[in-house]
Formats: sequence, structure tokens, C-alpha cells
Amino acid sequence: EKGGYDHFMLKEINEQPKAYRDTMRGRLREGLSGVKLTELKVITPEVLREIRNVHIVACGTAYHAGLVGRSLIEHNVNIPVETDVASEYRYRKPIIKPDTLVIVVSQSGETADTLAALREAKRCGASVLAITNVVGSSVAREADDTIVTWAGPEIAVASTKAYTSQLIAFMLFSLYWAEQVESLSQEEIRHQLAAIEALPEQVELILSQEDQLKRVAEDMAKHNSLFFIGRGVDYAVSLEGSLKLKEISYIHSEAYPAGELKHGTLALIEEGVPVIALVTQPALIEKMISNMQEVTARGGRIFAIVDQAHKEQVAKTADEVFVLPTTLAHLSPALSVVPTQLIAYYASLALGHDVDKPRNLAKSVTVE
Ligand code: M6R
Repeated sequence: EKGGYDHFMLKEINEQPKAYRDTMRGRLREGLSGVKLTELKVITPEVLREIRNVHIVACGTAYHAGLVGRSLIEHNVNIPVETDVASEYRYRKPIIKPDTLVIVVSQSGETADTLAALREAKRCGASVLAITNVVGSSVAREADDTIVTWAGPEIAVASTKAYTSQLIAFMLFSLYWAEQVESLSQEEIRHQLAAIEALPEQVELILSQEDQLKRVAEDMAKHNSLFFIGRGVDYAVSLEGSLKLKEISYIHSEAYPAGELKHGTLALIEEGVPVIALVTQPALIEKMISNMQEVTARGGRIFAIVDQAHKEQVAKTADEVFVLPTTLAHLSPALSVVPTQLIAYYASLALGHDVDKPRNLAKSVTVE
């Protein structure tokens, strides 16, 4: 049942190229001229044209996908987006209006807090879109419309392919919406779709380099604590990488927006502290390098996950680099998260933990 892999998590990490393709299947128009989302029956192009703001609500890893979703919608549709953890959203009196689109993201479609947020959004008259991996789940049944991620069953408690297929769903939805409101040119839409279509093969390339990540993970596993840093979507991926590591290896880690280090956390950086830096945003490269220098000046050791174009520049400051294939800056999470998943997996393995069933956690969280 594990398809020859030692754990479901490793199987699911390796299934990501297929999950990306399955989530795209039937949704790309011929010649990459646009996106088809025939499942949107209530949230029609007319409804989308009237939307003035978006709330993305989810828990855990799905929330981290929502952070990337926020930047995709802001980038492509030019509409303000807020992203909230479901258990916070409900209690802070969010301003939900009929021209608000609430997007709930849930792999299982059964997470209690996410479901409660969905109900609250509906009560306020908002349009509610679900992104879920389970057809017929509670979230799918109660939302106005559902975009299904076709990642296939995810058994490991630590979410991997569900998260990345949620990213694909956000990419497609944001381009679909962009077309309706003409926030992007046809040419730009085609350009992005071509880059999205290339992602599965690029993930395959990353997966073929797992030996390097295994070695790095075994080294990280000797430490009690480490940090992830990044800016923009690299920060969103840092949060996800850090959660994954904590969840299955029980190593303490924190994710920080790189520019925030000097506002407190830098005090924790001392000789030998490992720092994983996500460096994929060309517009932020100089700033990111100077944040990395703040770390190395205090003896911190940096493992950088960097895009092809900046590897030499970044290698001057980092102790070691892992090089990602080239994609568009705002699509990079679909690539950069994969090495962090493998680091978490191999760190957990090195420490002898139950990778697929970490202590204290359940796959589906149906209590609030
Ligand atoms: O089924 P959901 O996507 O609603 O689950 C949300 C979280 O419980 C889930 O993503 C959790 O954070 C994962 N175990 C993280 O790997």
C-alpha cells in the first residue's frame, strides 16, 4: 500500500508531480489561452466581477497555502486579501460583506474550525469557495462552490501533496479570475500558465536530488533548535517548512520574516545555530543577503534554498546551497517547499520517530 516506500509521507512527497498534473488536468484551455473552472456554478464571472475583498481561512498547513494564495490573488487580480487562521477568524469579528469572497482551504474538508468559519461567512451573506481534497466532505457540501484538488488520498498526518496541490488550485483560480476582470493581459496569462505547466517536471528534478537533503537533514537532527527565514512568499514557505519539521521530528524551529530578525530573534543566533534561508525572490535578493549576513556574522550556519539565477551570489554568504529550477517568482513555493518536506522527513527518520503518525496529532481535527 506504500507503493514500495518506507512511509506514506515519502510516497506522498514523491507523488507531487502527479498531484500537480491531476489538479491541472482538464482545467487548462487549449493553447494555454486561459483556465476552465466549470465547477464554479454559483461563483460566476459576474459574481467575481463584483467581489471587492477576499478572506482566506484555514488551519495549519492549509493556512500556509492560503498565505501563498493571498499573494497570488493580490498579484494576479489586484484585490485586497486577508488570510486568517480559522480558530482566530471567527472570534475577531471579521468584516464580512456580500461583496466579500471567503475561501476556505481544507485538505480533509472536515476541520471543525474551518467549517465553523465557513458557516459564519455564509450567515453574513458572503460568497464561499472551498478548496478541498475530499469530494463530498462537509466543507465541499456547504460551500457555494468547490475547487477539488486531485492530490489523491493523503494518509501521512504531515500534509505534503495536499498543500502543493492547493497552491496549484490557487494559481489556476487567480488566473481564471484575472481573465474575468481583465487584470492581466492574455499574454501574461499564457506566460504564467506555461510556467505552471512546467512545475511537475521541475519537482521531479528536485526529488532526484534528495541525497543532498538527506545529508543536510541528518546534520540538522543533531541540533535542538533551528530557524527558517525568508521574505514575501519565501516567508510563507518558511512557516510551512518549520511546521513540518516540528510536527514530525520534534525539533524546535521558528520561521521568521528575514527582516524581522534584528527586531529580537537575532539574540538567539549564536555559533553553530542552523538557519534555513529561502531565497527565491529577485526583487528582495539584496535585502535577503544582508539578512543572511546578520546571521553569519553571529556564527549562524546557513543552508540556502535558492533559485538558479542567484546561486552564485547567495553561495558567498551561505554555508551550503540547494539550487531550484527556474520559475516565476510568485510560483516558487510550489518548488521551494519540496526540499523542506524532505528535510523534515529525513530528520524525523534520523531521530527514529514515527514519521507518519507523530505524537499527539490526528489527521483530521474535528474538535474546535
Ligand atoms: O484537513 P485540513 O487541511 O483542514 O487540516 C488542517 C490542519 O490540521 C493540517 O494541515 C495540519 O496542520 C497538518 N497535519 C500539517 O502537516
